[in-house]
Formats: sequence, structure tokens, C-alpha cells
Amino acid sequence: MAASPLDACIATIRSRAPGAAPKVGIILGSGLGGFGDALENPTKIPYGELPHFPLSGVPGHAGRLVLGMLGGQPIVAMQGRVHFYEGYTPQEVAFPARVLCALGIKALVVTNAAGGINLGFQVGDLMGITDHLNLAGYNPLIGPNDPKLGPRFPDMSHAYDPGLLELLRQSALATGMRLREGVYACLSGPSYETPAEIRMLRTLGADAVGMSTVPEVIAAAHMGVRVAGISCITNLAAGISKQKLSHEEVGETAERVKGVFQRLLERFLPEVAKS
Ligand code: HPA
Repeated sequence: MAASPLDACIATIRSRAPGAAPKVGIILGSGLGGFGDALENPTKIPYGELPHFPLSGVPGHAGRLVLGMLGGQPIVAMQGRVHFYEGYTPQEVAFPARVLCALGIKALVVTNAAGGINLGFQVGDLMGITDHLNLAGYNPLIGPNDPKLGPRFPDMSHAYDPGLLELLRQSALATGMRLREGVYACLSGPSYETPAEIRMLRTLGADAVGMSTVPEVIAAAHMGVRVAGISCITNLAAGISKQKLSHEEVGETAERVKGVFQRLLERFLPEVAKS
């Protein structure tokens, strides 16, 4: 019988990085991929060399997997991800997260660029994700369920692990940076929201909005892997300031925040691996 897409992908990774046993996986969002280069003794695998791995065409996403060490702990990082708005199915969008989970990680850290909805937030803030609103109009678990991966109806009460969020708070404190916290709303994109949609999202309890992350978190929750999430508030959401929204602003802010983001992760990820 032919190997499943997941097994085929895992076999390729194991052949390229023999003996690698990452404890923590991290998905690096728009403009935040540079952190992957901080890993020591890295094995870098372009997504194109991984069977069944979806390829991103969005600027700001490098598109490779990096296995390496950070603070003495084995980590796997995804430099770039794909999105529903690129035309991939929800299952394809979630596939890379499933690969990381199937590699045996104990926790998945998801990161993204997001628009700030909470009026107390400033551009450049980092936000620990406490919970999400899946408003993307799809769910990556739709379709037949593979009980070997997880249950048909997974619990999402603690999709963002409270223990990991506490570790993130402590890491932020130790790094001397301010960490915001809040609820991330996921919409499909690719158009940015209207001011009316942002007012609606604020009423619904969202603090930040983006076009990613939630499919991967649902897949990880399905597979019983703990998740922590960090949003980089790259811009104020539509209608809050007079400025027009653009992918360039998103990239510029992510670039500006790079140093703080890297220091936070250098502290946080080894702690997650040890937890
Ligand atoms: N809206 C949706 N996605 C985003 C935004 C935004 O304002 N900023 C970065 N990603």
C-alpha cells in the first residue's frame, strides 16, 4: 500500500535530518521567518523537496523547514506557511502543522502578523493569543476523520494551552518586553476587512485579526498537541486610523519588531521544550 502523504513527508524529513527529534515546532508568519536562521546546526529543507507540502507564493514567506538547536533544545521551524486565500484547501493549509505534530513535537508555537482591533494596542506590539474566533468559513477537519490522528469532535476549550501562555508571560517579563494578550479572529482574506467588519469583530470579542493560524491550531488540537500563539500587531485594523492598509506596512512592522520577537522566542522556546 502507498504511504500516506503524512508518512511520506515524515520519511523524507527523517532521511534529510537523521536522528532529529524536535520537541517544539514553530510556524513563522509573514515577515517573521528570519527567526529560523537563529537555529544552530541547522538542516534546511525547501518545502518543494517535501512530498505533498504546499508551496507559498506570498512575499515575506521563505518556504522552508529548518531543524536545529536553540538553547540546547531541538526545534523545528517553518519559515512561511500557506493560506486558504491562495486557493489551497483547508486540509492542505493544515497539512504542514500535521507534519510537525507527527514528527513528535510536544508543543506547537504559531505566529502571525495581525491587525490590531483592541484600541489599547499599538503597532509593533506582540500579543499572546488566549483564544480564537474561527470566522474563516471553513474547518480543516471537514471530511472523513482519521481516528489514528484524533477524534471526530475534538475539544477546543484549551486550544491555547494556559500553561504555555503563562510561560510566555514569564519569558516576556524576563526579556523586559510588554506582552499584550487577546483573542485572534481568523477571516479568509485576501481582502482586508472593512471598518464595519472591524467594529463587528470588536463587538464579538476579537482583539486582533488575520488570515492564518486557526487551521493549524485546529489540526494540532485534533492531534492532542499543546499550542501557544503569538501575534505581531503589524497595523491598526481598518477604520481605526486614517492610513490605508497594505502588505508593505505589515512587512515593515514585522521587520522592525524582528529583534524583540527573536529575543522573546530565544527565551520562550527552550522553556517550552523543557516543560
Ligand atoms: N487584517 C487581516 N490580516 C492581517 C492584517 C489585518 O489588518 N494585518 C496583518 N494581517
